[in-house]
Amino acid sequence: MSYQARFKVWRGDAGGGGLVDYEIAVNDGEVVLDAIHRLQATQCPDLAVRWNCKAGKCGSCSAEVNGRPRLMCMTRMSVFAPEETVTVTPMRAFPVLRDLVTDVSYNYAKAREVASFVPPPELGPGEYRMKQEDVGRLQEFRKCIECFLCQDTCHVVRDHEENKPAFAGPRFLMRVAELDMHPLDAADGAGIDRRRAAREAHGLGYCNITKCCTEVCPEHIKITDNALIPLKERVVDRSYDPLVWLGSKIRRRGARP
Ligand code: SF4
Ligand code: SF4
Ligand code: FES
Repeated sequence: MSYQARFKVWRGDAGGGGLVDYEIAVNDGEVVLDAIHRLQATQCPDLAVRWNCKAGKCGSCSAEVNGRPRLMCMTRMSVFAPEETVTVTPMRAFPVLRDLVTDVSYNYAKAREVASFVPPPELGPGEYRMKQEDVGRLQEFRKCIECFLCQDTCHVVRDHEENKPAFAGPRFLMRVAELDMHPLDAADGAGIDRRRAAREAHGLGYCNITKCCTEVCPEHIKITDNALIPLKERVVDRSYDPLVWLGSKIRRRGARP
């Protein structure tokens, strides 16, 4: 079946803009990105849209479809009734560059603030051994395609630009959690306290575990349950349990040359 679908697409740039009405031909099996490409090919050659793989793997085509953060290439047109108007807008949490393209550099800045994995000094290449259970736990987080839909949906920054300097967002708190859980990470011995950093540098306390980030993740990563809540528990252990605190101090002192 082919039909004319009604769309409202946000057009504009950093100076301002608004929703523009379009009618676009849609065929069976197509996704929102197909319709946007057809719009670009037949009516608006200057429409700015970011995409790459069209397979839900590059994380480039993030936008908001009917107000919900989604990958355009993974949003089937069949989920909307043919008479429904589909609204496509850029991600709201990031500054607009043009049309559907936003400036996501906030995320890259936050990525750089997370201290990298510290290899265990006593092991050489090829000597790393991990339990399958640990591998499985960390692998879930490695599925992230950096679409930043979780960052876009998180209410801490979505309408609060002022929180951005102090809050890394779910994607990067998940990265901190992943490293903190990593059995081979030797950050402690290198004087890096990931749990303290989670609280003081990355703003873990801003997260009130609403799980909105988990709901929009196209990789179905349980960001809140498997990364943020365990990280909060670990931070609380270190901060408020005097034995854990003392143990960590002794361990860290012992690890230094
Ligand atoms: S669970 Fe935390 S990080 Fe995720 S959307 Fe809610 S407040 Fe943001
Ligand atoms: S955690 Fe999920 S929603 Fe967030 S950036 Fe990664 S893939 Fe996207
Ligand atoms: S185009 Fe790559 S995720 Fe949509």
